[in-house]
Amino acid sequence: MSSRLTVLDFPRFKAERRPIVCVTAYDYTFARLLDDAGVDLLLVGDSLGMVVQGHDTTLPVTLDHMIYHTQAVVRGSRKAFVACDLPFGLCHRAPDVVLEASIRVLKESGAQAVKVEGGVPVAEAIRALTTRHIPVLAHVGLTPQSVHAFGGFKVQGRGEAADKVLADAIAVEQAGAFAVVLEGIPARLARKISERLTIPTIGIGAGPGCDGQVLVVYDLLGFYDGIKPKFVKRYLEGSQLVRQAVHQFADEVRNRSFPVDEHCFSE
Ligand code: KIV
Repeated sequence: MSSRLTVLDFPRFKAERRPIVCVTAYDYTFARLLDDAGVDLLLVGDSLGMVVQGHDTTLPVTLDHMIYHTQAVVRGSRKAFVACDLPFGLCHRAPDVVLEASIRVLKESGAQAVKVEGGVPVAEAIRALTTRHIPVLAHVGLTPQSVHAFGGFKVQGRGEAADKVLADAIAVEQAGAFAVVLEGIPARLARKISERLTIPTIGIGAGPGCDGQVLVVYDLLGFYDGIKPKFVKRYLEGSQLVRQAVHQFADEVRNRSFPVDEHCFSE
């Protein structure tokens, strides 16, 4: 048995007020780096549809895609807890369909949990998983799979809509989720939900009052220089560094200063 974090560590983190560090991962190499850096939770998010596959939304991602990327992340990590997003379309179906898909995820990818987007409407499906010992990370607020219903990637839970997000968070906790991602909601609402719930909240665009924080790895490392959402902090200017390095490689190939002797095999 490996020495990975388990689902039992998350309530402990909340009780100890130890913030949970979560980063998305989609492949073996980044999973290794993030795991070595001490990330607690590697989330194989369906954001891979946008940042890896280049779609405008997460909707085209399939269960097979999620399993494929999760297998690589599990192989690349040793200590972090690994959760795999259930893609768009599954939780719209009967709880037994969601259960079948989640069994496939745990069996075929090695993930320890599935992530389910949505609140009250998916609570029954979450319960079908948790009562059968499949850990669920829930996700409420700005759930990207609902982008068309929201009219874009828009902050949720402002004004009177706060009650709906709170009700969603309570519903997923009651359905047995071990933690919940709060995305794109006002910071005060996120703090209130975090104080109200006994399970940890993990925020993205939800302010400092959450029990942990998650960022998309390519945002955190600055591999996007296009849109920079307000909630993103770049800890590296990755795209600049990559461009510089590749320009240097191209120059050295063209002026024949690479490769030199140290890169060559002798007879
Ligand atoms: O798909 C994803 O990466 C996510 C996180 C950003 C929370 O849902």
